[in-house]
Amino acid sequence: MKTEQPPAPAAARPTRALSGIQPTGRFHWGNYFGAIRQYIDLQPGGGHAAADEAYYFIADLHALTTVRDPARLRGLVHDAAVDLVALGLDPEKAVLFVQSDVPEVTELTWLLMTVCPMGLLERCHAYKDKKTRGLPADAGLFTYPVLMSADILAYDATVVPVGEDQVQHIEVCRDLAGTFNHLYGDVFTLPKPRLVEGGAKVPGTDGQKMSKSYENTIDVFEEPAAQKKKIMRITTDSRPMEEPKDPEGDHLFALHSLMATADERQAMADLYRRGGFGYGEVKKALVEVAARFFAEARARRQAIEADPGRIEAILAAGATRARAKAREVLDRARAACGLARTMPKGGGR
Ligand code: TYM
Repeated sequence: MKTEQPPAPAAARPTRALSGIQPTGRFHWGNYFGAIRQYIDLQPGGGHAAADEAYYFIADLHALTTVRDPARLRGLVHDAAVDLVALGLDPEKAVLFVQSDVPEVTELTWLLMTVCPMGLLERCHAYKDKKTRGLPADAGLFTYPVLMSADILAYDATVVPVGEDQVQHIEVCRDLAGTFNHLYGDVFTLPKPRLVEGGAKVPGTDGQKMSKSYENTIDVFEEPAAQKKKIMRITTDSRPMEEPKDPEGDHLFALHSLMATADERQAMADLYRRGGFGYGEVKKALVEVAARFFAEARARRQAIEADPGRIEAILAAGATRARAKAREVLDRARAACGLARTMPKGGGR
């Protein structure tokens, strides 16, 4: 007699992490604690948070809206790749590539542009901020979130590790993907942002969000003497030394917490609450924990820099893998909206 079998569970879709980072200068602590640290945690084989696949790229097309010097841009792209590998991105586990090496993404940008309401982009903060400050904004900056959406959708990404400032752009991406899917069928995978506690909005030396445009950054691989100088100049309030202080909400304490051990963090919080200390002491402790935290990455960086061919080989291999995936998704999108005259083979997720 045939026995009734329970239905086989639906095969879970693979989790695919994807993120991009602009090569507009050297990476700062905000980039590391908000995003890069997550890239490493999510790469396959990287512990409990690991995704099944991970794609990370250097967003040179986005950087073109601000870096206008070709030699500088080339240098920044190379440095970005060296820095990412030095910080722990493993090209054996994750696909590391340069955004412009995948031209499929720019074609996909156009398809998304045709379903993108102007009002959606007018509300985006990068464009709005520039406009409010009376600065000239080009169409590249205005349509920036559409290119970013294509970046994400081209790889069927399910999770996008970022800092808080990028969440709005991921919402735009979900909106555009939803509209396209509504019009043409189930083409795109809707991604989710991934933020980490303590790292989503890393403060800069003045207490605002750390950002190149606010000139308040501390770079990951800055020369130790220059880094120390910046740390010693971090703004603090002018309350007297004796007064007990609340560590919560204090940006100096927040920066120290990112790199201190749990015991060091607790001891620092106790010191704040007790009072009777100078902020100079906290800054010195920050110099020390930062040097210790990034010591290994600094050493790795030196070794990688000594072999520039290796980085180029990693980026070339990454581009080949990334293009193959983006081609598959682009073909799916082209077929769905009526651009392809024959249905592509395969094209599954
Ligand atoms: P970008 O290059 O400005 O920043 C790279 C990553 O660093 C994070 N970040 C921060 N996180 C916490 N605190 C801070 N102070 C801080 N400053 C920067 C950012 O949130 C970001 O995750 N548009 C993107 C690049 C991009 C992208 C993509 C990202 C292009 N295509 C597709 C994800 C998916 C940008 O300009 O990031």
